[in-house]
Amino acid sequence: MSKEDADMAGGSDDFAGKVVLVTGGASGIGLAATKIFAGRGAAVGIADIDAAGGQAAAAAINDAGGRALFVETDVTDEPAVKHLVDTVVSELGGLHCAFNNAAYGGRMVPFEQSTLAEWNRVITISLTSVYLCMKHEIAHMMGAGGGAIVNTSSGAGIVGCPRFEAYSAAKHGVLGLTKSAAMEFARSNIRINAICPGHTDTPMQAQLTDGDPELKEWIMSTTTTGRMANPAEVAAAAVWLCSKEASFVSGDSMMVDMGIVCR
Ligand SMILES: NC(=O)c1ccc[n+]([C@@H]2O[C@H](COP(=O)([O-])OP(=O)(O)OC[C@H]3O[C@@H](n4cnc5c(N)ncnc54)[C@H](O)[C@@H]3O)[C@@H](O)[C@H]2O)c1
Repeated sequence: MSKEDADMAGGSDDFAGKVVLVTGGASGIGLAATKIFAGRGAAVGIADIDAAGGQAAAAAINDAGGRALFVETDVTDEPAVKHLVDTVVSELGGLHCAFNNAAYGGRMVPFEQSTLAEWNRVITISLTSVYLCMKHEIAHMMGAGGGAIVNTSSGAGIVGCPRFEAYSAAKHGVLGLTKSAAMEFARSNIRINAICPGHTDTPMQAQLTDGDPELKEWIMSTTTTGRMANPAEVAAAAVWLCSKEASFVSGDSMMVDMGIVCR
């Protein structure tokens, strides 16, 4: 674990005895979250389509004396998502928290050049997957006395994002899903929140601006500080929303962007 991740972990073991599931846990924000949860005592189920990255993430936690299990999963595939939840529950002993974080952004293109195939890909991976994960996580949590779920939206889920319509629509959808389910399951002791990261230094962000220095310059010009978040700074917000400190927080869309979209 890097010093940065260890600092985020805070040396506390407040997740001891808890089982947490992180989707998209092989990379970026999800990977940072797996380290923080594990550093705070959780057993961590890691889901991703990237088998090598997911196995490495689980091995790093297990080698450091923690407990992690990688389940190769395409979160757009309902039987696979059900298998994921069932496996985490049976192998790690429950499911107390879930961070539904996997997504696909695609590239920014003028709207008239966008295609239905790419629209469907973005919506399926970035929105439908969150619905599927929540459906099977909640089914377990309902029978287990409750839990906490955090979904990853985006600043693009709060404000419009020209040339990135499908992604912005998916991330707005994640907030609608989060708020509606938070109301529906409050009496079942299931808290459901979202984080809305700003630009974060991850492979997805690098892919977005790959080979386009003008786009990268424009993205940096939209930050308030001249830097992107590092993944652990964003993951820490999701961990807090899952923690006991957030026991009366549900239905929230927490911005983690140093004030980009609040202006
Ligand atoms: N990086 C940013 O600037 C930024 C900003 C706002 C929101 N976000 C959101 O943060 C979340 C994490 O993104 P990141 O930047 O860490 O990206 P990332 O590319 O580093 O990680 C995303 C992970 O999701 C996995 N994944 C993709 N499709 C999958 C599928 N069908 N099934 C299972 N796993 C799948 C990938 O393999 C990858 O490991 C995403 O929801 C993203 O939309 C990122």
